[in-house]
Amino acid sequence: MKNRLRILFLASEVSPFAKTGGLADVTSSLPKALYEMGHDVRIIMPKYGSISERRYILREVIRLKKIPVLMGKTEHITCAKSAFIPDSKVQVYFLDYTPYFGHNDLYVDSKTGKDYPDNAERFMLLCRAILATTKLLHWQPQVIHCNDWQTAMIPWLLKHEFADDTFFANTSTLLSVHNLAYQGSFEKSVLPHLGISNAHETPDLEIYGRVNFLKAGLMTADAISTVSPTYASEIQNDDELSAGLKDVLVQRKDDIYGILNGVDYSVWSPENDAFVSPYNADNLDDKLANKKALTQKAKLPFDEMTPLIGIVSRLVDQKGFDLIAEVIEKIVSLKAQLVVLGTGDKKYHKLFDKAAKSYPDNIAVFLKFDEELAHLIEAGSDMFLMPSRFEPCGLNQMYSLRYGTVPIVRKTGGLADTVIDFVQEPDKGNGFVFEEYHSNAMLNALQNAVKAFHDRKNWSKIQRRGMKVDFSWHNSAESYVKLYQKLDVKKRK
Ligand code: ADP
Ligand code: GLC
Repeated sequence: MKNRLRILFLASEVSPFAKTGGLADVTSSLPKALYEMGHDVRIIMPKYGSISERRYILREVIRLKKIPVLMGKTEHITCAKSAFIPDSKVQVYFLDYTPYFGHNDLYVDSKTGKDYPDNAERFMLLCRAILATTKLLHWQPQVIHCNDWQTAMIPWLLKHEFADDTFFANTSTLLSVHNLAYQGSFEKSVLPHLGISNAHETPDLEIYGRVNFLKAGLMTADAISTVSPTYASEIQNDDELSAGLKDVLVQRKDDIYGILNGVDYSVWSPENDAFVSPYNADNLDDKLANKKALTQKAKLPFDEMTPLIGIVSRLVDQKGFDLIAEVIEKIVSLKAQLVVLGTGDKKYHKLFDKAAKSYPDNIAVFLKFDEELAHLIEAGSDMFLMPSRFEPCGLNQMYSLRYGTVPIVRKTGGLADTVIDFVQEPDKGNGFVFEEYHSNAMLNALQNAVKAFHDRKNWSKIQRRGMKVDFSWHNSAESYVKLYQKLDVKKRK
């Protein structure tokens, strides 16, 4: 293929190997789309203890059996194995180093509920090992696409330590920010353990007296992208959403791009979802079998005419659950049912646990990570609630649209870019949108949705409209390719 690009794609989680949230869906589906467009795309990620070598058929790579990585005075001997994303030909290299990545959890130790104390070393080692791996493979990427803070030290390393390295002379870097709230911020005392001794010369790395991996990447990447146009603008203009990095972002404003995430409809589509009873826009009645299965699983009474609201989410402040806490009784009094699947902060575990005990016929809660149940909730619910305080993109509202599960969302980030309010735009609306971050505003949207639900003809119109929207990767992957090409041309000038 003409103009075939060599793209090295880096992430700390890639579905189905390791996933805590939407990042993993994107880092799996975007490379698949790039591969299908004919590009040479390869992924590197950590080999966590929870990734089964047998299940995913990880193979040894002779050249990568021994990858020495120097951090300060310590030499770590790592290695890498390779496999493919299931049902694809996208090659993934797993950086294997048990002392750092042997745990089952990715960032937070589920036993303590706290971040692993050596996260700075873990992900710095990953970045150093990635560059070493690339060299051992003799494979010169034209673009290195980094994702979030865990791989954000790559552009910093290339600009500083590898500035004179001819191997990377024609390599451009793109840093995608999936969530500015997570920055990889550490005490400065970690520096010697990262093999960085001249930090005073590199203000790129520091902010507010701390080492900040994301800031380092934002300062040094050739371009920056984030996962929706609205979030791209919010982080440059809103003091809260810029999370302390506004000055940095304003400084880089000419190099920031907002590219909406896509959906992998081979995984998230009710016609071919292995976890649900199939249906499509022409036989919406078959969706009901999933509602029955879901209520049964959730031990809730089944009633076709009781609206069932689904939530699948990390249970963290970002997602707006304090709004739900304030009006939980009123939600129940709308004669609605709520099924929640999620894990995260203990305060939200308690909140939903208590709500489920108080309203056993209306609220059911699953406090775990369960991929299969996530699919059943998408298929079996009538509505899907995402009252996020902020949302860089959000994938579940896009999945919901495809499943005829009408989204109720707050107007922020990617939610604002993907859901159209039925009340304001009855001819176009595919969901319900509220603007103010207030429980009454959310309740009002819920009331409107419940009212619309009981007008059956109109409701199926809203559902079908949502099911027709196309968020497949094609357009967004094309936007990334254009950006890669632009960077590549600039680098070679
Ligand atoms: P975020 O990345 O902020 O968590 P997104 O909406 O982009 O939000 O993506 C969330 C992804 O994680 C979706 O694929 C969703 O189904 C999945 N997910 C979140 N929590 C759970 C859970 N407890 N069990 C299964 N899947 C989950
Ligand atoms: C982040 C964001 C979410 C986004 C996902 C994938 O986790 O919180 O909004 O959809 O990354 O880009």
